[in-house]
Amino acid sequence: MEIGIIGGTGREGRGLAIRWARAGHSVRIGSRDAERARAKAEELSALAGVTVAGGSNAWAIEGAPVALLSVPYAAHAETLRDLAPRLAGKVLIDITVPLVPPAVRRVHLPAGGAAALEAQALLGESVRVVATLHHVSSAHLGELDAHLEGDVLACSNDAAALELCLGLVTDLGVRGLDAGPLANAVALESLTPVLLHLNKRYGGGSGIRVTGIP
Ligand SMILES: NC(=O)c1ccc[n+]([C@@H]2O[C@H](COP(=O)([O-])OP(=O)(O)OC[C@H]3O[C@@H](n4cnc5c(N)ncnc54)[C@H](OP(=O)(O)O)[C@@H]3O)[C@@H](O)[C@H]2O)c1
Repeated sequence: MEIGIIGGTGREGRGLAIRWARAGHSVRIGSRDAERARAKAEELSALAGVTVAGGSNAWAIEGAPVALLSVPYAAHAETLRDLAPRLAGKVLIDITVPLVPPAVRRVHLPAGGAAALEAQALLGESVRVVATLHHVSSAHLGELDAHLEGDVLACSNDAAALELCLGLVTDLGVRGLDAGPLANAVALESLTPVLLHLNKRYGGGSGIRVTGIP
């Protein structure tokens, strides 16, 4: 499948692009600066022995049924506004955690209830938003030959989009679970600052695992 990663030059983009390319997907990483994305794509391709392409954010999502948004929350609304017409008809995977630096270990509830709800409201119903991957750290993703541990929760108001994303999560080598409607994104997004607190308090890199599901 063709996947375009908006802000794919960053920390999360690196591991996602390489892992999905290794799984056989056609991945483009995007940037505000097309040349930066091209250089990063060359670097990732050489590093991992895969083909990742790079260009502008608009180019990265062109023709792709799935776009993934991977920019800091401070750039969330502006980035979506810029790309809104190009996102129509697509599945948008929103991994945004609405952190407000420097207080990254404190839950911040956005005005729209959750970053993913804000995305859905901004983009309208022609874009099927799926919120997921909030609990997979770039550090773990970036350990390219290591299996990801834990579970990945995903929520959406569109059942088909959710199933598609759960498949993509499986392709990352980890179990994906249906966590309900997009309104539940507030719980997923809010758990990340708690994990960041746990990391600071106890060391290591925490994730989540759901027990009791066969
Ligand atoms: N890092 C993690 O462990 C982690 C885990 C789960 C979820 N997340 C979420 O994933 C998203 C990306 O995280 P990250 O750590 O990969 O972020 P990052 O490396 O800080 O930034 C990702 C990319 O966003 C673009 N960007 C930065 N500022 C921007 C702005 N003002 N306007 C438009 N684009 C801008 C940059 O691309 P260009 O400069 O090339 O345009 C950058 O490479 C965040 O929403 C975060 O909450 C992160």
